[in-house]
Amino acid sequence: MRSWFSDNNKPSLVERLCINVLRCGPIPRHVAFIMDGNRRYARKTSVETIDGHKEGFDRMAQTLEWCLELGVDEVTVYAFAIDNFKRPASEVNKLMDFARDMFQKLLDERHKLMDTGKCVRVIGDLSLLAPDIQQLVAEIVLLTKDNRHKVLNICFPYASRHEMTEALQELQTCVRNGLIRESDINESLISKFLYTSQSSDPDLLVRTSGETRLSDFLLWQTSFSVIAFADVLWPEFTIWDLFSAILYYQRNCGSVKNAKQLYESRLNDIEESADDTIDDRLDATRSTRSQRIADCLLYLENKRLNQLKCMCNKGVKVDT
Ligand code: FPP
Ligand code: MG
Repeated sequence: MRSWFSDNNKPSLVERLCINVLRCGPIPRHVAFIMDGNRRYARKTSVETIDGHKEGFDRMAQTLEWCLELGVDEVTVYAFAIDNFKRPASEVNKLMDFARDMFQKLLDERHKLMDTGKCVRVIGDLSLLAPDIQQLVAEIVLLTKDNRHKVLNICFPYASRHEMTEALQELQTCVRNGLIRESDINESLISKFLYTSQSSDPDLLVRTSGETRLSDFLLWQTSFSVIAFADVLWPEFTIWDLFSAILYYQRNCGSVKNAKQLYESRLNDIEESADDTIDDRLDATRSTRSQRIADCLLYLENKRLNQLKCMCNKGVKVDT
């Protein structure tokens, strides 16, 4: 029986030994995966395309378990790109039917999420999904939103440029409504308007199938991530491929950390120079920048929450 929780597939003794050795070094807090190669796997093994995706799902469930064992706190998976809607209708429909079944299954297994404090976020433009799938994902996200133990972000359907464009449009609305000023917008505020605002940036990004591109995935968030390319098709990804990616991370995280620190100090400078002018501070009738930002983030949080509640209650398509 297919499940999100592959608890009967625990690492062997040797694998556990390797996990313990790896855990002596730095472990990425957040790992993202571009799970590529399902259709090539289907062709290679002479099965239907959808069966390649189903194998990919099973591998994802196993990988989540391995990440837990390694002590990774947050995992993000690229489960469906907005561009994937352009694939043959039969493939898209079967993938959506499968996703519907799997999200329902996750809801059926909700006690496993709640008992272990796991938070599941579905990241992307949910308005592109069928209303009943919107309803399922909204239920899961709302149910687990306050869980803090481990986080799974499922990008479905997602595209980084689309995400950035939506963030900028939302910021423009906030300026137009007088919530913030144009001069309040900086890199830090843009980050808070992305779908991923509640997450830290991935420390490690793994892409399978031998392709060496980012395919419109987390372009903003991976500026300071170690990127590991694995030359295996996603359904063939093993715990050893994951170990190899972690080792690669351990060899490369030092230089990335330095670059990130430099960036963070630049971001600090930007924040300080964006502080209120003396005039703002002296004039009690003017809102300060920090108040404006806090109000506008509250507005965004409520808007997103309401959209989820609306999807959850009605199961109808919501225009964003
Ligand atoms: C990329 O391989 C994979 C996808 C487009 C789909 C990935 C989906 C899953 C692993 C299942 C996730 C399901 C849920 C419900 C979250 P590809 O199709 O691009 O294969 P190719 O590169 O060989 O053409
Ligand atoms: Mg592909």
